[in-house]
Amino acid sequence: MFEKIWIEKYRPKKLNEMVGQEEIRERLSGFINSKSLPHCLFAGPAGTGKTTAALCMANELFGQKWKANFLELNASDERGIDTIRTKVKDFARTMPINADFKIIYLDEADALTRDAQQALRRTMESYSSVCRFILACNYSSKIILPIQSRCAIFRFSRLDKENIKSYLEKVAKAEKIKLENGALEVIIDISEGDIRKCLNMLQTAAVSTQSKITKDYILQISHRAESKDVRDLLNYALGGEIKKVRKKLYKLLFDYGISGEDLIKQIHKEIYNLDIDDEKKVKLLIKTGEYEFRLTEGSNEVIQLEALLAQFSVI
Ligand SMILES: Nc1ncnc2c1ncn2[C@@H]1O[C@H](COP(=O)(O)OP(=O)(O)OP(=O)(O)O)[C@@H](O)[C@H]1O
Ligand SMILES: [Mg+2]
Repeated sequence: MFEKIWIEKYRPKKLNEMVGQEEIRERLSGFINSKSLPHCLFAGPAGTGKTTAALCMANELFGQKWKANFLELNASDERGIDTIRTKVKDFARTMPINADFKIIYLDEADALTRDAQQALRRTMESYSSVCRFILACNYSSKIILPIQSRCAIFRFSRLDKENIKSYLEKVAKAEKIKLENGALEVIIDISEGDIRKCLNMLQTAAVSTQSKITKDYILQISHRAESKDVRDLLNYALGGEIKKVRKKLYKLLFDYGISGEDLIKQIHKEIYNLDIDDEKKVKLLIKTGEYEFRLTEGSNEVIQLEALLAQFSVI
């Protein structure tokens, strides 16, 4: 049977069904209560609720007819600012239904060049009597100041583990999934505050096995190492225990199928969590950078990783 993807099935419909981002939700609720909305800029990492918040607003402001009043565009899909302008013009031509304005959600606004953003600013102004723009981007610094100053800016932060966990627990319960203790934590750990990644991973695991979802299973399907394994690897290296280093390294590369490039990224991240002084961390980071570069240039990943870890033991 075709199954709806969970990121859509469980996408919150109201702001108060979202988790985290409390301050943002409170400010946005204010707009809903007053039935007014300025142009907005939503900035923040992937999978933290930018699109979801915009859809919730449309839902709460416009009710059942929200689709007629909501246009979603993606700046990197559309062929340049001209297509965006044409679509905006067509959309703005008809009156909003049961409301004073329509909403245009422009995703990846930071993909537009500066010139295109200038043109966008003019478009925003021409249609501001009927349309409110919500621009979404990862970094607000990539949006030109004249646009920033015309928007209320909302900074979405990475969601914290507790919030993601409570959300995933609800989904797991609704889908009647059996989870090993700690499996959700592994999913959350790998996803770095991105709920979309978490949900996709959980769904992939759930459809590919009928039995209980274990930590190991998640690591295998995601081709990722558990943070603890990477920390162990680093500690063995720092202690000069090269046999243990090799065993652990091979387990990660060959049993879990993690690519050298992914593993080096995880090593880079875990260096910050090591219990060593900062001066030493700096040296490890510099070495990691060198070896990451060599890997991207295509050298043999096993040899490079072993060499990197050997360097760690003499730093
Ligand atoms: N704060 C949140 N509360 C509950 N669910 C969330 C939250 N953030 C994201 N999600 C879930 O994750 C999915 C992806 O979120 P969303 O599309 O809002 O991310 P985004 O911030 O727009 O990311 P991108 O920058 O990649 O477009 C949603 O379908 C929703 O199920
Ligand atoms: Mg989005």
